[in-house]
Amino acid sequence: MKLLNRIIQYIKYFFRSIHLHGIHSPFVFYIQHEIINEKIPFYAFDDIESVRAKLLLSQQEISVKDLGALGEKRKELKLKINEIARRSLKPEKDAQLLFRLAYYLKAENILELGTSLGITTSYLAKACPNAKIITIEGAPAVAKVAAVNLKKLDVLNVKQLVGDFKTELKPALEEFNQLDFVFFDGNHRYQATINYFESCLPLAHENSIFVFDDIYWSTEMQKAWKKIKSHPSVTVTIDVYSMGIVFFKKDQAKEDFTVYH
Ligand SMILES: C[S@@+](CC[C@H](N)C(=O)[O-])C[C@H]1O[C@@H](n2cnc3c(N)ncnc32)[C@H](O)[C@@H]1O
Repeated sequence: MKLLNRIIQYIKYFFRSIHLHGIHSPFVFYIQHEIINEKIPFYAFDDIESVRAKLLLSQQEISVKDLGALGEKRKELKLKINEIARRSLKPEKDAQLLFRLAYYLKAENILELGTSLGITTSYLAKACPNAKIITIEGAPAVAKVAAVNLKKLDVLNVKQLVGDFKTELKPALEEFNQLDFVFFDGNHRYQATINYFESCLPLAHENSIFVFDDIYWSTEMQKAWKKIKSHPSVTVTIDVYSMGIVFFKKDQAKEDFTVYH
């Protein structure tokens, strides 16, 4: 049922994205052409993807208790690292879009909810090597593998917090004066997503970008995306199906775009 719903949502997304081909907002036109559709590889991409390739081969087992939307069905499980890498990580295409967004923004203050093995964390850190980055992960053994990966990639500007977002988000937010970029990639439940969004909102500013992962993953996530889009402080949103991108620019009319990615 869930899969059928996602297929239907994808078909709708696809037709919306072709239908809205002529985008009139110069800002969104720029984001579409220079950031979403841009394909030029950056120097860091190969190094990060070679770390991912090794993770996809790793047979090492670690203990994982999912604190997110899968958590109710799952007890602590022994999972192979390659399974986690296959199931949990954003694919190359999406991770590189996050890189370009953070790079475009020249983000100095970045927060990520959901480190997993550290792949998107590494992309964000390489996009903005001078930024202050905090990433939160609830599964200690997973966070440990991420730490090894960040070290391998010479990422020095990331602070990892290990624990439930419920307890770790507040201390993380206390370390920032403002948030330029936030990637929400864990615990895909309606109320949790809205709570994380509302907790980060006071630190958002005119040029902040918030990215929500898997906005069509479930009906709860679709509902959360709808609610976020309608929030009075949100102006432009861009739906690229796998993620929803939120802008707060005051000079832009409130409008929701769908862009093929
Ligand atoms: C989809 S993965 C993140 C993938 C990563 N951003 C990437 O693409 O490289 C989501 C992660 O969030 C963690 N997570 C889910 N719910 C959580 C919660 N309530 N508190 C802390 N971590 C949580 C999971 O353990 C999982 O590792």
